[in-house]
This record gives sequence, structure tokens and C-alpha cells, in this order.
Amino acid sequence: MCNLRSFFTPLLAVLLLQSLVVVVSAQGSATTWKTLTGNPPLVIARGGFSGLFPDSSSDAFQFATLASLPDVVLWCDVQLTKDSVGICAPDLRLDNYTSIAQVMQNKDKLYLVNGIPTRGWFTVDFTLNELSLIFLTQGIYSRSEKFDNIYSIQTVEDVANLKPPGLWLNIQHDAFFTQHNLSMRNYVLSLYRRVVINHLSSPEVGFLRSVVKRFNLNITKLVLRFLEPNVIEPSTNETYGSLSNNLTFIKTFASGILIPKSYIWPLDASNYVQPHTSIVSDAHKAGLEVFVSDFYNDVPLSYNYSYDPVTEYLNFVDYVDFSVDGVLSDFPVTPSATIGKLNFFMGAVVSLPTIIELSTVATSSFSYSDFSFCIADCFSGLGKNAAPQVNLSVISKNGASGDYPGCTDLAYQNAILDGADVIDCPVQISKDGIPFCLGTINLFDSTTVAQSSYSNRAQTIPQIEAGSGIFTFSLTWSDIQSLTPVISSPYSKNELFRNPKFRNSGKFLTLSDFLALAKNASSLSGVLISIENAAYLIEKEGLPVTDKVLDVLSKAGYDDPTSKKVMIESTNSSVLKKFRDKNNYELVYRIEEDIQDAQDAALKDIKGFANSVVISKASVFRESSSFLIGVTNVVPKLRSHGLSVYVETFRNEFVSQAWDFFSDSTVEINSYVMGASISGVITEFPLTSARYKSKSLMFLVDMQQYRVNPGRSWNRCLGSNSSSRPYMSPARPGDLVQLIAPFALPPAQPPSPVITAPDVEEGPLPSHRASAPVPGGGATAIPPGPPNGLPKIGACIFLSNLAMLITILLLL
Ligand SMILES: *[C@@H]1O[C@H](CO)[C@@H](O)[C@H](O)[C@H]1NC(C)=O
Ligand SMILES: *[C@@H]1O[C@H](CO)[C@@H](O)[C@H](O)[C@H]1NC(C)=O
Ligand SMILES: *[C@@H]1O[C@H](CO)[C@@H](O)[C@H](O)[C@H]1NC(C)=O
Ligand SMILES: *[C@@H]1O[C@H](CO)[C@@H](O)[C@H](O)[C@H]1NC(C)=O
Ligand SMILES: *[C@@H]1O[C@H](CO)[C@@H](O)[C@H](O)[C@H]1NC(C)=O
Ligand SMILES: *[C@@H]1O[C@H](CO)[C@@H](O)[C@H](O)[C@H]1NC(C)=O
Ligand SMILES: *[C@@H]1O[C@H](CO)[C@@H](O)[C@H](O)[C@H]1NC(C)=O
Ligand SMILES: *[C@@H]1O[C@H](CO)[C@@H](O)[C@H](O)[C@H]1NC(C)=O
Ligand SMILES: *[C@@H]1O[C@H](CO)[C@@H](O)[C@H](O)[C@H]1NC(C)=O
Ligand SMILES: *[C@@H]1O[C@H](CO)[C@@H](O)[C@H](O)[C@H]1NC(C)=O
Repeated sequence: MCNLRSFFTPLLAVLLLQSLVVVVSAQGSATTWKTLTGNPPLVIARGGFSGLFPDSSSDAFQFATLASLPDVVLWCDVQLTKDSVGICAPDLRLDNYTSIAQVMQNKDKLYLVNGIPTRGWFTVDFTLNELSLIFLTQGIYSRSEKFDNIYSIQTVEDVANLKPPGLWLNIQHDAFFTQHNLSMRNYVLSLYRRVVINHLSSPEVGFLRSVVKRFNLNITKLVLRFLEPNVIEPSTNETYGSLSNNLTFIKTFASGILIPKSYIWPLDASNYVQPHTSIVSDAHKAGLEVFVSDFYNDVPLSYNYSYDPVTEYLNFVDYVDFSVDGVLSDFPVTPSATIGKLNFFMGAVVSLPTIIELSTVATSSFSYSDFSFCIADCFSGLGKNAAPQVNLSVISKNGASGDYPGCTDLAYQNAILDGADVIDCPVQISKDGIPFCLGTINLFDSTTVAQSSYSNRAQTIPQIEAGSGIFTFSLTWSDIQSLTPVISSPYSKNELFRNPKFRNSGKFLTLSDFLALAKNASSLSGVLISIENAAYLIEKEGLPVTDKVLDVLSKAGYDDPTSKKVMIESTNSSVLKKFRDKNNYELVYRIEEDIQDAQDAALKDIKGFANSVVISKASVFRESSSFLIGVTNVVPKLRSHGLSVYVETFRNEFVSQAWDFFSDSTVEINSYVMGASISGVITEFPLTSARYKSKSLMFLVDMQQYRVNPGRSWNRCLGSNSSSRPYMSPARPGDLVQLIAPFALPPAQPPSPVITAPDVEEGPLPSHRASAPVPGGGATAIPPGPPNGLPKIGACIFLSNLAMLITILLLL
């Protein structure tokens, strides 16, 4: 692997163009930070950008400096080799994050680590030279392994040579190295003569006390790292929990503490956040800074944060009565964006997330203060009021269905509170002809009908969907009201569940209740009503759903031109044509399938019956193995035909996002909005999109415009004339995938289909009078289940519908 670094450097540079984003928000109203010093909280990148690249790899460190606030601190876990060289590596044992187990078979050992017998390949058994034969791998299985076996181990000095704005060394195991006759203390003290160490942390009080007199504490801050409260700190024989009540003692040898998140916001047994402790203000009173660890975008966050890491960071960096002094993160872009945007609006020192040319950092000919100045200069002229607003419609999907059972009063009320512009009602119709809102026509998907006395109403109707279902038109509205709603759980197989406390809360609404609720909410600009299966309902069940919708809308006062906007959505053009003479309605054609292109004839047809189109995320950016590999022509083509484009479905759970979005739903939204120029998002988590839209100033700093002229300081900010836009398109699909070694590239994907005119054209809807309803709709009858009460599991086996099986399992 010759000179990989020079090969990857230009590629990394390209990557930067892609999606570096600053989110600026007016979240904080304070004029100064409630940190100990009043300065903004520090962003500390654990092992670099270890959420993406292998921990402590060269690109993890370099990318962290590029994707974060300009004063980002690089965190290095120091381990010693047999020949006393300090390396940056997350653990004593190499087998967890390198290829060593394959390269040096049978060289593993059994040692006591803090009294616990531990087997593995330990750094103390290998010289640096021997370690040059092995490569780093991703130690956390849920992250991409595509960057494995590219990067070699970095020494602490390699990292220091990057001249990062801050270097933080963590000494997790001083005692272990002492047992192996290696002195971490001597190593650190000798390194200190050559390298600026900004922070030095350890969970061992004895180690910190042994070095405290040897450091200039104006340059190096000593920090006691807390382990879990019940763990005993060996040198004091006290638990970390009891040490946390002894802050004046800690102040005698340290200037700060590093604590897990739960010391501030404890979680209850069911993963909800409890009221915060007083540790931050206690530590600040004792003169200690408070740094917080365990921030990962890609783990199940507390339900209170709705899987949105920005929401979590805000609770720490800008809470009502405190700000912590720094956060230790595997995804430093997210706290950088959170802190940077707060900073901008606070009018304090402007220190925005920046992108700095990689080669510049590497050759260290670059001054960070110049860069901050440049940014400040560029934005000082803009002022708060000039902050450009994103023009984006935030449309809910079944209300705030990420937090509450879909289409219930709770889901809609919360979507409104969360700041949605448009709430949606997927109209279904009951046996007695009442239109109401529910995500699917099959009651299995979002209610406990399988548990109810109606469980014997299951039918198989291939025209509607494969598999069997209990359909809304088989029950009366009062039957349906008696059913219990169920929260959707699209990622339960990844163990990511939604708000269990409200799993069965809320009540369903008729279309008319829904319209009244929406009409009352002054923040809403409109409602979206989607209609499916209209032809079947009218022909087989005698239920003219389009007529009913028109009637309810008119009765609710939505025909009044001054009322809220009405959007009618369908995948079937014949439905939209029924609404054509309602001039004030926006007609939305939904293309359910992922497409890669659209023929002109199809576009002309669509333009004939619709004002806008809903497409899937995969119809905008093409993905392979969750890496973006390209952008389709679909959005530009739709827009060139004068159609607005809404994209579905945005979710906060990180498993729903491509790697290119760093497990941060805000980065994903920004990439679609700024990168693909879409007009609206359809989202189950409207809070995240609404915060992005209303309070955020997103911008991307284009590296090309930040090229340093040798010998001169940054003299061009965001381009020197008006042709340069400061708000750059962030989406550069394909950039990240280029960093993958050729042998690990994802397989080629078959292309998605192209939408054609015949796909779009439909015959007219059958008219109501023309067709007598066929009782039962010609459906295959299903043998009835037990007459009353819960069905036996055996009776459910015929149900091929996975969603129903999951529902049943959840309810058992
Ligand atoms: C490395 O250690 C972490 C934490 O102990 C563990 O979750 C992970 O599975 C380990 N990975 C490997 C490759 O052993
Ligand atoms: C450390 O040094 C002592 C004394 O020199 C020796 O007895 C011991 O075996 C050494 N331990 C290790 C792990 O090398
Ligand atoms: C640290 O800074 C303080 C205040 O600026 C100064 O008085 C002190 O001499 C400095 N200490 C060292 C060791 O430089
Ligand atoms: C604080 O910790 C020190 C060292 O363990 C101990 O000597 C002292 O008694 C403790 N003070 C309190 C109030 O617990
Ligand atoms: C540590 O404390 C425990 C109980 O608090 C005591 O039993 C034990 O002897 C102590 N160990 C040392 C090394 O002081
Ligand atoms: C977290 O959510 C639960 C359930 O909604 C709520 O009871 C609790 O107060 C929330 N925690 C905080 C700190 O707001
Ligand atoms: C409309 O708002 C008023 C006052 O905010 C409230 O009293 C009323 O119940 C609301 N109506 C509906 C249908 O939500
Ligand atoms: C925002 O977008 C909507 C529809 O996409 C358009 O009608 C409107 O003119 C846009 N507003 C601005 C200020 O660009
Ligand atoms: C402004 O932009 C135009 C077009 O990119 C370019 O030709 C011109 O030289 C620029 N002016 C300055 C002062 O950079
Ligand atoms: C669309 O509606 C027409 C009736 O207008 C019907 O014949 C056709 O099957 C429907 N298409 C789909 C895909 O449901």
C-alpha cells in the first residue's frame, strides 16, 4: 500500500465539497454562553471523525478538522508500544480495531486489565515497527466497514504534526502500562517538551496527581475522566459516583471533569430523560469545566430526542440554566453545526463551522485565526435579518407519526406544535361512508384490530394489496373508533422503537374533525389530503370517496379562497382529474415507485393534471450500499415543467440515511433542499425539518473559494463578487464512495425504471351511479376466527402480512 495518503488526499478534498453544512439558528436567546468561561463549548472529535472513518485513522483526524468548528480539538487515546512509542488507538487491545488477528495469529495474550482477565493482542507486546504491518478497521459493527484496511496506525506525533487547533490526550490505563514496565508518565512528560498538549485526561486520580506539577497549566488543562458511578477509582478507593460529590478535591489537581451524559441527564429504565442533576452548576461553582462524553449519532438516543442528535446536543450546550464546556463526539459535524449556529445568532465571536483545505492543514502553512476572521468578515455584513430563509414546505406524514401513533389527534396536534406547514390526512372510508384519516386502508397496519372482536373480518383483495387485511370499509366508523391506535415501528428489526409511552395513545379523526383542527391552527399554511383505491371503493363497495371528500371540504369552509391551501394527492391521475375544476386546490401526483428518469411525454401528461409531484428519496439521489452514487435528472426535469417537487419519506432514525449524511437527519434534509432544490419534505418528524427551515441558515463553504494564495492571508471570502453564492449546493453524491478502496466498492445497482406516458395515463374513475356495489367486493372470504376476544395465534398464521405479525408480537 504505497503512499496511500497522497492518493486519498485529493479525494478527501473533493469530499469536502459535498455536504459541509453550517446550521445557524436562533435557538439561544442568551447573549453569552453559560459555560465556565463564557466561551462557546468546545467540540472534541473522539479519534477524529470516527463515526465514519476507522477510529484514529489519518482521514478520521483530518476530516474532523475540516468538518467542524475551527477550534475543534482532536482526541487521541494514547497507548504505548513495546518500545515506548505513543500511538493513538481507542483500546489497549489491537484486535478490536485493526487487522492484527489475521496478520499475527497466535500472538494474543491473557493479561489482567484493572483486575479483569482479558485476552487479546495488546499494544505492549509489539514494537511500532511490527505495528506498521497492520491496518485499521472499523471497530463498531454498525458502521461502514468500507474504509477498513486502508489506513495504518498513527503515532501521537503524527497527529500533532497535523497542527490541529487543539490536541487532547486521554490516558485511560496508566496502571496497566506500569505493570508492563512502561511509563506513561515519562512518555507524556517527554512528549510535552516537543508537542503542545491542550488537554490531558485520565480516569486515574493517581496519574493526574503525579504529573500536575510538571505542566504549565496555562497551556495544558488536566481533566479527570469519570467512569460509571459504581466503578471504583483505584487510587482513592472511592467510586466515581462519590468523587462527583467531592469536586473541591478534584479541583486540587484538575481544571475540569469529563463525565458521561447520564451524570447530567439521567435516563430512566425505559430510556426517557429524567430531570437534570446539578453537577454542571456544582462543578462550575467549584471552578471546574465540564466536558461530556458518549455522543454518538448512530445509537438509539433517548426517546425524548426523537432520534435527532441536534435535539440532544441542545440539551447540553444550550440548556435553560447551563451550558457544558465541551462535548466529546464521534460525529463532530453535528455539535459544530449546533454550536456554530447558536454562536452566529448570539452575536458573540463568530466561529462558524468551516471547511479548510486539506492540503493546507497538512502543510501547516495556515493560521486558524485568519480563517475565523475571514468568516466573521463575510457574515458581519449579513446581519441577523439578512439570514436567508430556506423556502421549504414541511409536510407531515400521518402527522408527527415518528412520536405518536399515525393520524391520531396527538400526532396532528404535535405536528402543528412542531412547526409543520402542512398536515396530511390519508383519507380512508368506513363501511357507513364516513371519510376519516388513517395511514393505510388496512387496519392491521396501525390499529390493534387483530386483537379485537373484528379479527374475523380479514379478507384478501389483490386489487388493493397482496396478503390479507381487515379493510377500513369493512367496519363502521363507530367500530373503528373503538380500535386502539398503534405507533408505527419501521426500524424495529434494528431495535429502534418509537416513543413507547405513547405507543397506543390518541384517537382517530374524521376528515371533518381533521379539517376543523387544521383550520384552527394559525401556523399551518394548508392541508394535504391523499386518496387511494378510489376506483375500487366506488366500483366494488359503492363508496364514492372523491365525492365525499369534496363535500366535506366544502362544508368545512375550505372552498373559500381565503381559507388554507388544500392539496389533493393521489398516485392515480383519474382521482386528480376529479378535482380539476377546483382552481384553488393544489393537485399533487405521487409517484410511488423509485424512478431514475421521466420521459417528456409523461411530464407533459402530469403537467396536464397536477401542479406538483411527490417522489421518493431514491428518485433524487441514487444509492448503493447506503452510499450516494449519483443524482438523477428527475427533480430538474419536473421543475423545468413547472412542477413543484416534494420528497418522501424523511425519518430521523439514522438507519434510514445514507452514510453521506453522517447519521444526522438535518444534514440529510439540507442535502435534499440545497443540493437537489426540492420544494418540500414529507416527514414523520416535522420538528427536525421545521427547525432546519425556520431557524436555520445553512451554508456550505466551497473549498474552491477558500484556496489560500501562498504568502497572503485569506483575502477572498465567499468569492469577491456577486456571482458567487455563499450558500452552496451541498450534495455531491459519489464523493464519499470514491474514498472506498476498489476491492471494497459496493456492487453495481440495477437502474430504476423510467416513468413513461402509459404509466401516468388512466381511464376515468367509474361514476357512482353507473356501478352497483358488489357486496363483499368479490374478495376471497376468510374463514372466521374465534367469535370473541383475542384470536388464537394459530388462527393468525395465514396472515402473510408482516406488519400484522409484528403488531401481534408487540402486543403479546
Ligand atoms: C470492539 O469493542 C466494542 C466495545 O467494547 C464492541 O462493541 C465491538 O463489538 C468490538 N469490535 C470488535 C471488532 O471486536
Ligand atoms: C518488569 O520489571 C521487573 C523488574 O525489572 C521484572 O521482574 C518484571 O518481570 C517485568 N515485568 C514485565 C511484565 O515485563
Ligand atoms: C499563567 O497565567 C497567569 C495569568 O495569566 C499568570 O499569572 C501565570 O504566571 C501563568 N503561569 C505560568 C506557569 O505561565
Ligand atoms: C474527598 O476525597 C479525598 C480523597 O479521596 C478524601 O480524602 C476526602 O475525605 C474526600 N472529601 C469528602 C468530603 O468526601
Ligand atoms: C477500599 O475500600 C473498601 C471498602 O470501602 C475496603 O474494604 C478496602 O480494603 C479498601 N481498599 C484499599 C486498598 O484501601
Ligand atoms: C421525556 O419524555 C417523557 C415522556 O414524554 C416525559 O415524561 C419527561 O418529562 C421527558 N423528560 C424531560 C427531561 O423533559
Ligand atoms: C380552536 O381553538 C380554540 C382556542 O384556541 C379552542 O377552544 C377550540 O377547541 C379549537 N377547536 C378545535 C376544533 O380544535
Ligand atoms: C417558495 O416556493 C414556492 C413553491 O415551491 C413558490 O411558489 C414561492 O414563490 C417560493 N418563494 C420564494 C420566496 O422563493
Ligand atoms: C466576478 O465574477 C466574474 C464571473 O465569474 C469574473 O469574470 C470576474 O473576474 C469576477 N470579478 C472579480 C473582481 O473577481
Ligand atoms: C386508477 O383509476 C382507474 C379508474 O379511473 C383504474 O381503472 C385503475 O386501475 C387505477 N390505477 C391503479 C394503479 O390503481
